[in-house]
Amino acid sequence: MADDAPRFASPVAVAAALADMTPEQRAAWRTADVPGRPSVAERNLDISFPFGWFPALLSSELAAGEVKPLRYFGRDLVVWRGEDGVARMLDAHCRHLGAHMGYGGRVAGNLLECPFHAWRWDGEGVVHDIPYAQTLPPRLQKPCETQWPVTEANRLIWFWYHPQGLAPQWEVEIYPETSDPAWTDYEIFEWRVFGSLQNMAENAVDTAHFRYVHGTATFPTSEMIWDGPRRTSIIDAGVDTRQGRMESRIEARMIGPGQSATRFTGVAETLLVAAVTPVEKDEVRVRFCFTQPREQATPIATMFAAGFVHEVCRQLDQDKVIWDHQRYLPRPVICDGDGPILRFRQYYNQFYAD
Ligand code: FES
Ligand SMILES: [Fe+2]
Repeated sequence: MADDAPRFASPVAVAAALADMTPEQRAAWRTADVPGRPSVAERNLDISFPFGWFPALLSSELAAGEVKPLRYFGRDLVVWRGEDGVARMLDAHCRHLGAHMGYGGRVAGNLLECPFHAWRWDGEGVVHDIPYAQTLPPRLQKPCETQWPVTEANRLIWFWYHPQGLAPQWEVEIYPETSDPAWTDYEIFEWRVFGSLQNMAENAVDTAHFRYVHGTATFPTSEMIWDGPRRTSIIDAGVDTRQGRMESRIEARMIGPGQSATRFTGVAETLLVAAVTPVEKDEVRVRFCFTQPREQATPIATMFAAGFVHEVCRQLDQDKVIWDHQRYLPRPVICDGDGPILRFRQYYNQFYAD
């Protein structure tokens, strides 16, 4: 590079790809297909899925007595909520003759009734009733080989994914704000990202991209705490306002590959709960759920809280431009200013069963 060449590109390159969109076009673009993508194999995304707890739906999206089809981890699934209020999940295809129970199935008490011949299944995949049979085949009295443990927390329905069917190895972390009536209902933004979950997660420790993709003035520095399946990063950032400098802190925490949340405190309070779940090897469903105190402390705080939401969504739009076309490189070439990418990979590797 010539000595007088600018060290930093600004405005950032991907901004051009997004610049001409109206807000409506932007909203449609976030969940639209990306046609003509290379195959999963060509992008080196044909690696196994990591295990952990993942969000399936918002709790409010499944009423008692309701059945829904889902697709995650390249699998067809069915979820229902019994009369007892408990959500349950099974592989979608009925073990009798293969009907997809998410289409036309109904809830009978706490059981799921298949739409094809009305066999009734519990949440472990045991049949309790065949209305036209005298005796139940013994095989139906054993639970399904693949179990889908479900729990509900933080206004979300979570399920445990493990490729070999091992039981949950940690619990879903609770965010007290989500059950506090003084905090707002979720404000939700949705994307479909056509890339790998690991590439997306790595973004948080990829220090240099903040400057080039997001156009930040500096490379952010954060304190990182690596603790088993948990990873926390804390950024203390002062914000200059007309009232003077105000301290603020951004604390991002992930527990396994499927649960992450970011707390923005100080100038204003916001909690971002990320619902990020793989659909296929090259597709991830992303929903960012923001909650804030119904009353922020000051008008400035209200402004900052709204600004935080806007900035997070703007950055996700920009990252999506990269992720939608990125390959996965198992042995990347890293330089000294890159941030703890290799440390991150070491951490993330613990979630691969093979
Ligand atoms: S296919 Fe489900 S009951 Fe027959
Ligand atoms: Fe980013």
